[in-house]
Formats: sequence, C-alpha cells, structure tokens
Amino acid sequence: MFQYHCLNPIANVGLDLFSQEYKKTENINEAQAVLVRSAAMHDMEFPEGLCAVARAGAGVNNIPLEKCAEQGIVVFNTPGANANGVKELVFAGMLLASRDITGGINWVLENKESETISKDVEKAATHLGMEVYGYDPFISVNAAWSLSRNVKHISNVEDIYRECDYITIHVPLLESTKKMLNKEAFAQMKEGVVILNFARDLLVDEEAILAAIKEGKVKKYVSDFPNSATAGQEGCILIPHLGASTEESEDNCAVMAVQEVRDFLENGNIRNSVNYPNCDMGVCSGAGRVAILHKNVKGIIGKYTAVMGENNINISDMTNKSRGDFAYSLLDIDSPVTEAAVEQLKKIDSVLKVRIVK
Ligand code: MLT
Repeated sequence: MFQYHCLNPIANVGLDLFSQEYKKTENINEAQAVLVRSAAMHDMEFPEGLCAVARAGAGVNNIPLEKCAEQGIVVFNTPGANANGVKELVFAGMLLASRDITGGINWVLENKESETISKDVEKAATHLGMEVYGYDPFISVNAAWSLSRNVKHISNVEDIYRECDYITIHVPLLESTKKMLNKEAFAQMKEGVVILNFARDLLVDEEAILAAIKEGKVKKYVSDFPNSATAGQEGCILIPHLGASTEESEDNCAVMAVQEVRDFLENGNIRNSVNYPNCDMGVCSGAGRVAILHKNVKGIIGKYTAVMGENNINISDMTNKSRGDFAYSLLDIDSPVTEAAVEQLKKIDSVLKVRIVK
C-alpha cells in the first residue's frame, strides 16, 4: 500500500487514477509521494520515506530541487499539460496590449448610467496574421519535430530582440535566467515592443522594464505575475497568475502528475523529472527490481553490482543514468532482494536512497 499527500487541491480526475493500492493521507510523514501546485516547500523538512514530489504544473521554483535530490526524492513536473491555458492568456495579453481593451471596459463601467451609451460605442475586428519567431537553445528533437512549419526557428536570441514586435518569454526561473530581460536586452529591441511574461516575474529586470516603458521603448508589459514593483505602474497590464487556471489545464496536470508518480512507485521509471535523469525499464514483471538513487561518482556501479553478487543475486537487466551530480540505477534481478543486501547497498558511500520496487 502506498500513501500520498496533497499539499494543494489536485483535480479529482487525476486522483481517481490512483488504484486501490493507494491511500490519501493528511500526514505528510506517512507519504511516499507528495502532490503539489503552488505550496512553498523550501522550508519544509521531508520524511525519510518520501520518494517522489509531483508538481501539477510546469514551474518548480516552489520546490527545493537540490535538497530533494540529496535526500533521494525525485521531483516531477507536468510539462505541456497546462500549455493551452497559458497560450490562451498570452493571446489575450497580446490583444490587451495592442488595443486599449481594459480602458474600454472601464469606460463602459464609468458610463453605465448614460442613455446614449449604445450610440457612443463602435466595434472593429482585426485579423491576426502574425509572423512567428521561436528561440529555444535546448529544444529536444521530439519538440522540434512537432513545431509548426510556420514558426521561424531563430538560433540567436538577439535576432528575436531585433526583429519582434511582441516578445513572449517561457523559460524556467533559474539562477541563470533571473533578469534575463534586462537593460541590455531592452536596448536591442524595437521601439514600442510588447513584452509578455507568463513564466515568472523575476525573469524580467523590473527596474529596467519600468525605465524602458517610460522612454517609450516598451509599449506594454503584460505579466501573469504582479508584484510590488510592477502593480499599478503605467504601461503594465497585470493578471493574478491565471495562466493555467482552466479546468482542462488542472485536469491535465493532475492526470499527468499521478501517472508519473504511479510509474515511479510501481515500476521505478522516471518520466519528466527536474532533478533526476529520466529512466524507463518498462513494466516491472520479473522476480524483483531495485532502484538506487546515488551521486554521479566514479566506481559506484562496481560497488553495488558487487553487493548483489556477494548476496547471490543475479542482475538480469539494468540501467544507469545520470544528470549533473545525481544518478539513478534500476536493476532487474532474478530473485527477490534480501533486507541484508538492501542494508549493504545503503551503506555504500554516495548512495542516497535504495528502494525495493518489487
Ligand atoms: C506553471 O508553472 O505550470 C504555471 O505557471 C501555472 C502554475 O503555476 O500552476
């Protein structure tokens, strides 16, 4: 029996995918898996038995990835599951920035008592025929295959700055991406450019963008992440983080997060992790399977295979994958692993966690 704990409400369509082998617990200390949306996890202590954290969403800046990796806790996210919801709002943001729609709505509210309001109003519709440029230095082969041929692939971000009238930013918030839209970037952009930020506020240097708005360089800054620097500022159109708040997005994220957790707990497979490598050995159908989460150091494979040999356990198949400082090994074995062997594996230097999958 596995137990999971939800730090935020997670859509039932996802939770319903947990089989009878799973029980929801209100006590995180009993859980092997945690599901989370926006709860801040940086100051939390994690119980020894916790194996997985699944973020129902793309951004993982509320989760301490390194600390989890050090404790052998695999963190998953759900890339793409809420992309449609965000895309819809980016389009809305683009239109809000191009036409003074919010001003118009406010005008209607202010004139709601006027008897001539219907005569005072005129309507117009414009066709949206834009040339789309895309820049992604880390694009995967699969993602590249699924790109529309109408998107012009740009290999140099400066060309985006120079050419585009609307720039929308969709990158994770990392030390290396903080303030990536800064004074130098704005200086290269076209006069009257519109910046759309539906990723995270700190990707944009706020002092620099407010100055660029004042100079007329940036026409509008549309963001789903208001904060005290931008709220109420001239030229800023701010939405309260609603990008993925659609029923479909929440359902998709919950379904994907639960599928990832189940595949990990039941088969040891890792899909869409943000702190451990992906690894897939298929459904666990043999006599036994052991997962070892460890540091990515020399000689460790020899050490754990030796333990298996000493305990008379034959390894029939295995995978070892690494990601930065961390690595993951999945071993299919011909006979169930013994407690004694597990204890020996845990004592190997640089081993962070050992889990008997089967
Ligand atoms: C994401 O990170 O997936 C979006 O910002 C939406 C969310 O935070 O849930």
